[in-house]
Amino acid sequence: MDNSDAIVTPWEVRGEVDYKELIEKFGVDPLTPDIIERLRRHAGGLHVLLRRGMFFSHRELNEWIDSYEKGVKVILYTGRGPSGNTHLGHLIPWLFTKYLQDAFKCDLYFQITDDEKFLFNQELSTEQVAEYAKENLLDIIAVGFDPERTKIFTNLTYSKPLYNVAVRVAKHVTFSTAKATFGFSESSNIGMIFFPAMQAAPCFIHQYLNSEDAHVLIPCAIDQEPYWRISRDVAPKLGYRKPAGVYSKFIPGLGSGGKMSASLPDTAIFLSDTKEKAVKKVKNAFTGGQPTIREQKEKGGNPDVCVVYSYLYSLFDEDDKAVAETYASCKGGGLVCGECKERLARKVAEFLEQHRAKRERAKGYVEKFLVRE
Ligand code: TRP
Repeated sequence: MDNSDAIVTPWEVRGEVDYKELIEKFGVDPLTPDIIERLRRHAGGLHVLLRRGMFFSHRELNEWIDSYEKGVKVILYTGRGPSGNTHLGHLIPWLFTKYLQDAFKCDLYFQITDDEKFLFNQELSTEQVAEYAKENLLDIIAVGFDPERTKIFTNLTYSKPLYNVAVRVAKHVTFSTAKATFGFSESSNIGMIFFPAMQAAPCFIHQYLNSEDAHVLIPCAIDQEPYWRISRDVAPKLGYRKPAGVYSKFIPGLGSGGKMSASLPDTAIFLSDTKEKAVKKVKNAFTGGQPTIREQKEKGGNPDVCVVYSYLYSLFDEDDKAVAETYASCKGGGLVCGECKERLARKVAEFLEQHRAKRERAKGYVEKFLVRE
C-alpha cells in the first residue's frame, strides 16, 4: 500500500496513516516489549491501550523510568486544544495519562491551549474558546486525575508563569526552525509563530517555579511530536532535562478511513452524545463485513479493516480471550456485523453514561484542579 499521501501535522491528520513509517519520519522509537514490561512492573498491570498497541512509540521513556527509579522527581504533562466538544479520540491520551499518574504517583501539568485555538482558527473568538475550555475542563477532571497532584491551566489565564518560561524558550528558536518544523509562512500571524514556545513552556514550568530538577514525560497523540522536538532542542540550553514522550495512534472515525474528527460529527462519538445518538452512530459504522449475511457466512468478514472491531480491540473489550474469539469468529463467518455493532454500542453507551456521572461530579472540583495566576 502506498501511504505517502498521508499527512500528520499538529493541525492536520489526513489519509491512511502508516505508523511504522511515522516512527521513521519523526525519529521516535517503537514501544518494545521490554519497555512495556517495565511499565507493567511499576503499574502492577497493563493498560488496555498499551496491551493492544494504541500507544506505540516513545522518546526516552526508558530514561524517564530510570529517573523514577533513581528518585529524581518525575512529572507528567499533557494538554488539550479547546476548539470544540470532547470526543473519544481526545480522551485516549488522557486515560493513559491517568494510568501513568496512578502508577508513578506523580504530578501532572495539564495545559489547555485557548490561545492556540484562538490564533489558529479564524472562526473562533476568545469568548468561544473560553467556553470550550470550560466545557472541556469538566471532561478532563472526569477522567479521575489525582486532585492533590494535578494542575490544570489555560494559557490565557495562567499567562504570567507560562510566558516567563516561553520567552526563554523562544529566544533559542529561530523563525527558520519554526517554519521548517511547523510549516509557517509569511502569511502566518505572528501569534502562531510564537505559540510553540507556549506549548513548550509546561515542559519546564515546574523546574522554573520550584527551582528543582525534574524529568517530564508527555503522553499524547503522535501529531504533537514536532513541539517536543523544539522543546528537547532547547532544554539543555536552559539547563533542563529533555522531556520524554510516549505517543498514541489516532482512533479512526466510524466511517471508512481517517481519524476521528470533530469536523465529521456523524463519525465521531462525542462525550456529550446521548445514548441514542451514540448507538445510532455505532450502528452506521463502517465494518469489514460482506454485503449480505449469506456471503458473510460463506466467506467470512475482514476484522483487519473493521472500525467496529478496532474499537473493541483498542479500547472497549479488555478481555483478551473474548477479543481473540471475535476476530476468529468474524473471519470464519460465524459472526455477523450486527452482533458486533450491538456489543460495541452497549459498551459505548455504558462508558458514556459513566462519564456523564463523573462529569457531573467534576463540577464540584473545578477550583481544586484549576490553577490561576
Ligand atoms: N496542541 C494540542 C491540541 O491542539 C494541545 C496541547 C497543548 C497538548 N499541550 C499539549 C496536547 C501537551 C498533548 C500534550 O490539541
